[in-house]
Amino acid sequence: MQILGIDVGGSGIKGAPVDTETGQLLAERVRIKTPKNGEPQPIAEVVNQIAQSFSWNGPIGIGFPAPIKGGVALMAANVSEKWVGTNADALFSKITGCDCIMINDADAAGLAEMTFGAGRGQPGTVILLTLGTGIGSAIFHRGQLLPNTEFGHLEIKGEDAEFRTSDAARQREDLSWKKYAKRLNKYLETMERLFWPNLFIIGGGISKESEKFLPYLTIETHVVPAQLLNEAGIVGAALGALRK
Ligand code: BGC
Repeated sequence: MQILGIDVGGSGIKGAPVDTETGQLLAERVRIKTPKNGEPQPIAEVVNQIAQSFSWNGPIGIGFPAPIKGGVALMAANVSEKWVGTNADALFSKITGCDCIMINDADAAGLAEMTFGAGRGQPGTVILLTLGTGIGSAIFHRGQLLPNTEFGHLEIKGEDAEFRTSDAARQREDLSWKKYAKRLNKYLETMERLFWPNLFIIGGGISKESEKFLPYLTIETHVVPAQLLNEAGIVGAALGALRK
């Protein structure tokens, strides 16, 4: 099936039509800067601009950085508070004239990795963590997603995990890879003791540089980088729309 996948991020909104059987993008992706205030209407306009650029009139899957239930964001850690309580599926569907389905961005990336990337065919429990502006999480057991986990907000050493361990924290504090890996190890160790997964997949922009921090990790669970890099969010958003 062909679905337009759109990934709403803090700095950019990216989209491309996706073949959901193969995970291939069917055209070069379009990227537009995220409007400054990150509020619903301006973001919906960008989503519409992306849909228009492909003359799209089919279904649209949208990955969004918040937990989502029935098309509504439940919490806003890195987006405008105005999203909370807004029926985003209805807002996007109205402006684009297409059937729009929103899903948490990390759940989307997880679906893409489990279907076409590092988690393909993995039995047992798999946890994908996206390390970027925040920390997103997706947990799978025997390939089934338990949606809307927010493990990035686990409290570690009295602080929100994403405040200490996101890629944004590494950059903000100018941490060496070794120091950053120590923090990541502590975070993964906490997750390991709570969930005993068979595999961790590390996604987000940082996965391109995995050779710089993976060798320092000492936890027992196997840790691998995501394979779809830039495309996981778009492909997964399209896959998310299939789950409606
Ligand atoms: C949000 C999550 C999101 C993650 C990555 C967190 O701050 O609470 O819903 O998946 O950032 O964007």
